Formats: sequence, C-alpha cells, structure tokens
Amino acid sequence: MKCKHLSECRGCPLAEYSYKKQLEIKEKKLEELFNGRVTVTPSPLKFRYRSKAELSVEGNIIGFRKNSREVFELEECLLLSRRANKLIDAAQRIVSKLKSKNLRYFSLRDCLNSKQLQCWFSFWPKIDINKKEIEFIADSLANYCQSLHFVQSYSYASALGKSELIFGKPHVYELLLDKKFYLSPQSFFQSNVKAFELALQEIRKKAYGKVLDVYCGVGTIGLSIADSKHIANVVGIEIMQEQIELANINAKANRIHNVEFFTGKARVVLKKFIQQHRRFDTVIVDPPRAGLDKKTLLRIALLKPSQIIYMACNPESLARDIEEFRRFDFELQSIKGFDFFPQTSHVECLAVLS
Ligand SMILES: C[S@@+](CC[C@H](N)C(=O)[O-])C[C@H]1O[C@@H](n2cnc3c(N)ncnc32)[C@H](O)[C@@H]1O
Repeated sequence: MKCKHLSECRGCPLAEYSYKKQLEIKEKKLEELFNGRVTVTPSPLKFRYRSKAELSVEGNIIGFRKNSREVFELEECLLLSRRANKLIDAAQRIVSKLKSKNLRYFSLRDCLNSKQLQCWFSFWPKIDINKKEIEFIADSLANYCQSLHFVQSYSYASALGKSELIFGKPHVYELLLDKKFYLSPQSFFQSNVKAFELALQEIRKKAYGKVLDVYCGVGTIGLSIADSKHIANVVGIEIMQEQIELANINAKANRIHNVEFFTGKARVVLKKFIQQHRRFDTVIVDPPRAGLDKKTLLRIALLKPSQIIYMACNPESLARDIEEFRRFDFELQSIKGFDFFPQTSHVECLAVLS
C-alpha cells in the first residue's frame, strides 16, 4: 500500500521500507539499547491497525500537522480503517460549514474488534457552537459513528478535557481477548488492539500470585489476566478518577471479582501500601513515555515483589529504569519487542525483572 501523504506527513518514517526490514530496524535498535538479542513480534495488521486518531482543525481543514504550524488536509490515512477515514471525510465536510473560532481538534476511537466508532470535537477556550449547528453536526455524523461528544479542552494544545455527549451512548466498548472494555473519549487505550492482545497473552503467561497493576488505566491489563488460575488477585493504581470508574464498570461487565482499584498518583498509593506492609508477587508497570519517576521506582523496589513486568512504549526510559532497578538487585530476565506501531519508528517492549 502506498500512502498519498508520505512527503508531507511525518507520521510514518519507516513506510518506505518493507515490513521485514522495519522489524529488523526495530530489533537492531533494541539490541543496541539492551546489549543482546531482542526479537520483535510482528503486528497482525501492518496497516489500518490504529485504534485512535487525533487530527488538528485549522480553518476549514482537518488533518495532521506537517510541521508545528501547518495542517495538511487528510485524504486517507492508511493506519486507519476505511470506516474511520469515511468518518474523517464526513467531519471535513461539516467543518467547512461551521462558524466556530474555537474548534481545535477532531478525534476518533476506532474499536476494531467490536466495530464501534466514537468521535469528538475539541474546543478551546470554550465550545462556541449554536443549537442549530449542533443539530446539523449530529445529523451529518449519525450514520458514520456510534457516539459523538464535544470536549472543552484542558488547554489550547490538548484534545482532551471535559466532555459532553451529543448523541449515542457515553461509552463505546472494545473487545480484548474475550473481555469487554468500556471507554470514554478520555480513556487511554493501546493504539493497536491486535498487537496488544499478543502482549497480553505473554503477560498472562508470566504473571502469578498477588498482582499489582500500576498505571492501570481502565483495567485492560489487570482484568485480562485476573481470571488466570495462577493469579490470586489484582490491585490497580491509576491517577484519573474517570478511568478508575470505568475499570470498576469493566470488572463488573466481565464478572471479575478478585480486583480492587485505587485512584491516585502511583508514588502516593505505593507509599501507603509500604506503610501497610502489603505484599505482591508480581508488579506490572505500564507508565507514560517518561517512564518511572524516582520515587515510584524506589517504592516498587521497596515492596520487594518476586518479579516486575514492565511494559514500555519508550524503550529508552525502560533501559534507564532497568539500570536503576539493578541498584535494588533486580536483574533483567527477558525482554521482547511487540510491534504496536508498524510504519512508524516506535516499538513497544515487555521486560521481566526479578
Ligand atoms: C500507558 S497508559 C497505560 C494504561 C493501561 N495499562 C492500558 O494498557 O490500557 C498509562 C496510564 O497511567 C496513568 N498515569 C499517568 N501518570 C500517573 C501517575 N503518576 N500515577 C498513576 N497513574 C498515572 C495515565 O492516566 C494512563 O492511564
């Protein structure tokens, strides 16, 4: 498949290479970083795998930014499904008819397994759309997606914020292995559901006993493994209250009872667990790109789990944190790459330390 936007879009720097070559490039990068052989599990889908897209709106144009200023109009993104591209086309036709000065982003969540599509327009500093325009937008998009939200962004540069449902249900759901996960526009969800399922199978094989799932989001990892016969229970920690509410809804939807979720900063909740002398056999961490902050890392080490399963979207911060864990006598036992991001230079890693 050949993308029409290769010259203007910075999203897929590896698209000029065969998929085999892309995997070799990623393996080489990981081998240099971790000083040893690292295999990267291919993505089941090489194109049309993305579960989310966040597009900028500028004037009458919806598209990706070609540099920090200019937006180019998107004809088709080959990382998105055909129906997601059709939804973007429909949104494009709407935007050119709106008078809003504050519309900044158009985003969509494409649940590839359940076939549900959710989208939202983000405004900043406030939503400046009148009732007639809302009806026009809702009518125009009703045939293209299951739900539409308006979001009052947290800041000029963010597509996330306080959301208001315009039509459809407040949450869509995605299927992961055999379980159902409800998601809102604010929810984090891995960008490649099919590749994530492969990583989850690996985590399920490795995790045992009492499990702590730090940075648990809506509970995707913890709930996917909680019913394994090797697992006693799962405790999740997540900073966003709304995600924890969904994690509890997701536990109920999947009839999983051996889980407990805590809202708060990881390092604060971990401190409490240390004071309470709580013990865990397996600690799973899946932090944002920056990796673990010093206090979080120290407190995980102080909990003295038998193993740490570290899922990372940023191999550099993983390498740094593995070095830091060594100071507390944790050694790297295994590391694998999973290609969550074909055509791009990113790669997900799964490391086990004990
Ligand atoms: C990479 S996502 C992983 C989510 C989840 N494990 C999944 O796979 O769907 C990281 C999550 O950490 C949460 N987070 C960010 N900083 C945090 C902190 N200091 N303490 C706890 N959670 C945090 C984010 O809200 C986000 O849900």
